[in-house]
Parts: sequence; C-alpha cells; structure tokens
Amino acid sequence: MTSTLQVDPSNAEQASTWDGKEGGYWAEHADQFDLALRGYRTPFLAAAGIAAGDQVLDIGCGTGETTRDAARRASRGRALGVDLSDAMLRVARQRAAAEGLHNAAFVHADAQVHPFPAAAFDVAVSRTGTMFFADPVAAFRNICGALRPGGRLVQLVWQPPAGNEWFLSFTNALAAGRPLPAPAPDAPGPFSLADPERVRAVLGAAGFTGIQFEPHSEAMWFGEDADGAHRFTLGLLGWMLDGLDDEGQRRAVDNLRATITAHGVLYASATWTIMATRS
Ligand SMILES: C[S@@+](CC[C@H](N)C(=O)[O-])C[C@H]1O[C@@H](n2cnc3c(N)ncnc32)[C@H](O)[C@@H]1O
Repeated sequence: MTSTLQVDPSNAEQASTWDGKEGGYWAEHADQFDLALRGYRTPFLAAAGIAAGDQVLDIGCGTGETTRDAARRASRGRALGVDLSDAMLRVARQRAAAEGLHNAAFVHADAQVHPFPAAAFDVAVSRTGTMFFADPVAAFRNICGALRPGGRLVQLVWQPPAGNEWFLSFTNALAAGRPLPAPAPDAPGPFSLADPERVRAVLGAAGFTGIQFEPHSEAMWFGEDADGAHRFTLGLLGWMLDGLDDEGQRRAVDNLRATITAHGVLYASATWTIMATRS
C-alpha cells in the first residue's frame, strides 16, 4: 500500500487488497479486464447519458476505461476517477495522457471518505467499483454530497451469483470439492449490491431518490483460447488455492483448466444498471 492513501479504517482490508497484489494484477491485465466487460461498455455509457458540459465522477475507476469514455463525452467538462489502487491509477493516467484527454484526472483515495468538493458533479458513474465499501451508507452519502442537487448516480453492479455463470464455474472448479466461500450478503465484495431491496435501503439512507434497476446480460470473454483464459482466471481467483496442499492445488488448477476447455472462453453474466438521483 502506498503511504499517501487515507482510508477509512473500515476499508483497510480492501485497501490492502486493491492497493496491493490484486490491484497489481488488474493493472497488468487492464486490456483483458476491459475486454471481459466489453459487452457492457456501450449500454452503460448510454445509461450514463453524459452531456458535453458535464462534470463526471468515476468511482472505483481502476485503469480508467470508463473515465476516458466519460471524458470524451464531457468534451467541455471533465471526468475525475477515484480509486484505491495506485498501480491501476498509474495505468489510467498513462492511457488518458496517451489519448490526449486533458479533461481526465485521477485521485488516489477512498471514495467513502474523500473530501470531494460539495455539489460539484453532474453525474457519478461506476463500473463494478461500488461493491467494496465497508460502510456503503457512509460511502454513498459522501458521493451524494459530491453531486449537485438533481445530479445522477449510474452504477453497474453484478446480479447474484446464480446469474453469473463465469463466477460459479470458476469458483466451483477451484473449490475442488470444498464448500464455496460464503461471505455475508452485505460484506464488501462483488455481490454486495446484488439485492435490489438492500440497494434501495442503502441508497435511500444515503440521500438518493428515484432508484431504478435495469437488468442486463452479456457474454463475458476470458481469453483468446482455453490456455489464455485459464491463466487469466487463475491469476484473478488464485487466492482460492490458499489452504490447499500441493495435491489439492494441482487438482483445483486441473479442474479449472478442464472446465474452461470443455466450456470455451465465453461465459454468461448478469448485471444491474442502477440509477438514482440526488434529491
Ligand atoms: C472490479 S474493479 C473495477 C475497476 C473499473 N471500474 C473497471 O471497470 O475496470 C473495482 C475497483 O474499485 C476500487 N475500489 C474499491 N473500494 C474503493 C473505495 N473505497 N474507494 C475507491 N475505489 C475503490 C478498487 O480499487 C478497484 O479498482
């Protein structure tokens, strides 16, 4: 973790993950992650409805594909990406500079507590970057305060695992017969905003109104071929090998390879696009 990052103590674990090994992996594989989500890119931008003069905040911007898309659309405004991962932000800055996007900027911060200027943004967007807050009401309240009255929040989040074949297939394969990890439904993680009832309660308590959900399903692409997809997914979910002995690890890795070889590199996925307005 870099020393300049100020995080809320409740987010310390997420910060050490994202501003550590995991963020490093995402930074090194930025293209592959962007390609995995490519089916969502255009519909998500359409939902964001960014106008030329907008000030846009991208929460959990990672390596910044959405921030760059936002900056291009906000040609007379600007886009600010915020993220916990220094390594991912380095990639984001390099890519924005390489594209000459002078209206894109990035800040290394915890969106839950960062002192954003009040009422400064027209739109806050996030592509799978808002599910990791330890205190989501506090985090969304902070984001709400950064939006002008009438400003919009547009987030892409995962629906529950049952609709996400990619997640179930890979984690079942790597579990190698062990029970799957079962985090509490409200624990920070990819599925923490999967339940619309919970999201309505969280966003309502944070000061948002007009909360709407649009379901969306797309195939996700994990690599050119089975070998590439195996390497990529193993890097992403390799933490699931923790606690297995050598034989168990070999079996889990082989299971994953067999699953991908049998299935191919495209997997079903399901998301919500959640829209809300600052009252
Ligand atoms: C699944 S990645 C998505 C990255 C990017 N939005 C994309 O679509 O490629 C989640 C991102 O959220 C960031 N994140 C998690 N908690 C955060 C927090 N409290 N404040 C800022 N960023 C956070 C992580 O560092 C990570 O880059």
